[in-house]
Amino acid sequence: MADRVRVGIVGGGRIADLNKIGWLDHARGEIVAVCDTDESTRSARAAEWSCKPYEHLEGLLADPEVDAVEILTPHHLHASQAIAALEAGKHVSLQKPPTMSLAEYDEVAAAATRAGTVFKVYENFMFYPPHVLARQIVDEGGIGEVLSVRIVTAAGRMGTGQGWEVSASSNAWRLDPSLCGGGMMTFDHGFHCFQMGRMFVDAPVEAVHAFINVLELGPGTQIDAPSLISWRYAGIPVRYGSWEIVASLDLDVMSEYYVSDDRIEIRGNSGIIWVNQCSGRLLEEAPVVHYRDGVVRAFHRVETDWAVSFRDATFDFIDAVLDGGQPHLDAVEGRATLAFALAAQLSASEHREVAVAEMG
Ligand SMILES: NC(=O)c1ccc[n+]([C@@H]2O[C@H](COP(=O)([O-])OP(=O)(O)OC[C@H]3O[C@@H](n4cnc5c(N)ncnc54)[C@H](O)[C@@H]3O)[C@@H](O)[C@H]2O)c1
Repeated sequence: MADRVRVGIVGGGRIADLNKIGWLDHARGEIVAVCDTDESTRSARAAEWSCKPYEHLEGLLADPEVDAVEILTPHHLHASQAIAALEAGKHVSLQKPPTMSLAEYDEVAAAATRAGTVFKVYENFMFYPPHVLARQIVDEGGIGEVLSVRIVTAAGRMGTGQGWEVSASSNAWRLDPSLCGGGMMTFDHGFHCFQMGRMFVDAPVEAVHAFINVLELGPGTQIDAPSLISWRYAGIPVRYGSWEIVASLDLDVMSEYYVSDDRIEIRGNSGIIWVNQCSGRLLEEAPVVHYRDGVVRAFHRVETDWAVSFRDATFDFIDAVLDGGQPHLDAVEGRATLAFALAAQLSASEHREVAVAEMG
């Protein structure tokens, strides 16, 4: 058995700054190659990571030193690149949303089965320490039976000096549904929130209803907000979840990353959990608050750096490759979240409730 995983990173753009962390921090991980069609990005990343640059994916996949491939490219490329990497016998970590359709997804999953290598859908909110703590409180029975999950996202004001610089090229493909697969909030960012919708309830989502508004911001620039997506979990008792996206485009959100404020409220039959932080920060409040039996527990000391969720998602992949386990979002679980996300898109376009089973 190999003692480390040598990765080739495909796509050295904005998010590579967070995806790299796990590879640099894990004692058994190493970045050995980068592939990016943009020459300046490719050479800058090769210099930064002291690794081999490849212009074309074929070159990187033919490199015997590359054990695993991390795909960080625009969504329309995910399926073909993942299949090529799996057919080359590589382990694959594929950034969310894994593909733009379930048909594409099933081709990737079939390639993973044929390859027999590790395949992970990379979703990091599920590793964000406040979310992990909330799930732990649920597991300990801290709110009794979970009855409701409510998520709110505020897309905040850009260009205030808060948050990351996001290049025009990084935004451009997100504004084209044929490259992104859907809107930048409800489909691109959405994969995280649909995963959160699934994270705290141990029952599948069976039906979805979505209002998705497209707000024109200027020529060729739009945001799919305000939007309101609700869903029903299977089984008894009847339980609903919801995700609201508010276009608070003049709201200052403090952040070292994206200027987006994501909050989650999880209600049970005997308690409530509030998760007040994610990539953005608004109020000086505890990141996790738990209420039960007249007692409020405010968790001030939980790690809140959003980058940690990326580190731990990468660690999950490296450990699965070396220790022979399943990564946390494997082919089956990744499909369930994608089907949920696509059901919301279908619901909004057809103005009706959609059963997730309809998605195939
Ligand atoms: N987990 C998260 O929170 C999170 C946040 C942002 C982005 N993402 C995901 O990461 C992925 C990349 O997003 P980004 O914001 O870094 O995009 P980006 O546009 O900043 O970077 C994409 C990079 O891919 C390169 N590229 C384009 N075509 C290529 C090809 N054929 N072969 C190799 N490289 C190619 C581009 O030159 C660019 O450097 C997407 O799947 C996105 O949804 C995830």
